[in-house]
Amino acid sequence: MAKKTIQDLDVTGKTVLVRVDFNVPMQDGKITDDNRIRQALPTIESLLEKNGKVVLFSHLGRIKEEADKEGKSLKPIADKLSEHLNRPVKFVPYTRGQELETAITSMQVGEVLMFENTRFEDIDGKKESKNDPELGKYWASLGDVFVIDAFGTAHRSHASNVGIASNIDEVAAGMLLEKEIKFIGGAVENPQRPFYAILGGAKVSDKIGVIENLLEKADKVLIGGGMSYTFMKAQGYEIGTSLVENDKLELAKQLLEKGKDKLILPTDFKLTKEFSKDAPYRVGKRDEFQADEMGLDIGDETLKYYQSLLQEAKTVVWNGPVGVFEFENFAKGTLGILETLASLKDTTTILGGGDSAAAAISLGYEDKITHISTGGGASLEYLEGKTLPGIKVVDDK
Ligand code: 3PG
Repeated sequence: MAKKTIQDLDVTGKTVLVRVDFNVPMQDGKITDDNRIRQALPTIESLLEKNGKVVLFSHLGRIKEEADKEGKSLKPIADKLSEHLNRPVKFVPYTRGQELETAITSMQVGEVLMFENTRFEDIDGKKESKNDPELGKYWASLGDVFVIDAFGTAHRSHASNVGIASNIDEVAAGMLLEKEIKFIGGAVENPQRPFYAILGGAKVSDKIGVIENLLEKADKVLIGGGMSYTFMKAQGYEIGTSLVENDKLELAKQLLEKGKDKLILPTDFKLTKEFSKDAPYRVGKRDEFQADEMGLDIGDETLKYYQSLLQEAKTVVWNGPVGVFEFENFAKGTLGILETLASLKDTTTILGGGDSAAAAISLGYEDKITHISTGGGASLEYLEGKTLPGIKVVDDK
């Protein structure tokens, strides 16, 4: 059923609580990738245009004890947001209490406030992460309506999403959440066909549920990256020193059996003797691995084949690089797939978060892909076909 969105809300003069996912990568107090902040701007700007008072909050990192708070304040994030919005964002360095409450009740229409890292509440009994009923109720009491725009956190059932939603009258999806539901949810539930998935990354074990679900939903599943070698070993090939999960060979056999000709494996590879940036390599077919060689990228024959298949697709979901793209010698497969996706005109192309999504953004392909998800774990669980608690609690239309 369709979910209520901010278009369905009257927020005039109201205090709108907005759960965003500003769990962004940081180094030495500086944000190294502000994509999640930029992706939340349409929702914030729209609520301000509709004359709301916007109260934002997020988690950042994982907090178990007092010492973990170091470097995990949302203050630098509030400053970055203020730059993007080109207006002040009042930062309140608390997650509860008189000062926060007064700051919120004295807000004017068109103002933005952000309060401190919701996981600072985890120090005392994991209140945020265990969805402590009192905490969700308390945060809900600070506003009139609740907007969830934190897709990255939608697979968590925490006080700052599910807890608040259970204690407030109206819950709507923000524009980012709406977009993630439309593209990822849409691809899994009702794709335009042919629907092809490309799954890469190091391990089969990280993506068992995704492979299983997409073998049912997609027309083809193209495999790349480290996980290829576990499948190949399960088929009886010599894979040399390539990455392998020996405890997943039985599972790989079952997936091969289930997938039949839907599950497509690479046929050639870049083979090398050492895992390093400038390692010399040769191209070899799947039955040509020497005992001391490992595969670090798909070869040209596989790339061409995958690229030709993608030309037929109307929907493509991609999760996980098909080679060690951080090393120039082994980046060609991943870049080749990215270029092909960027060139497809009538195809919905979706990158399901994680490394392949980050690579696409840093290489400047952001505007050429239909949708790049902001979720890591959340994208994977959504692609597995799971119901995400942070989406479930949004009101139906
Ligand atoms: C993420 O980055 O995947 C989300 O922000 C969730 O973070 P978590 O895995 O710490 O809950």
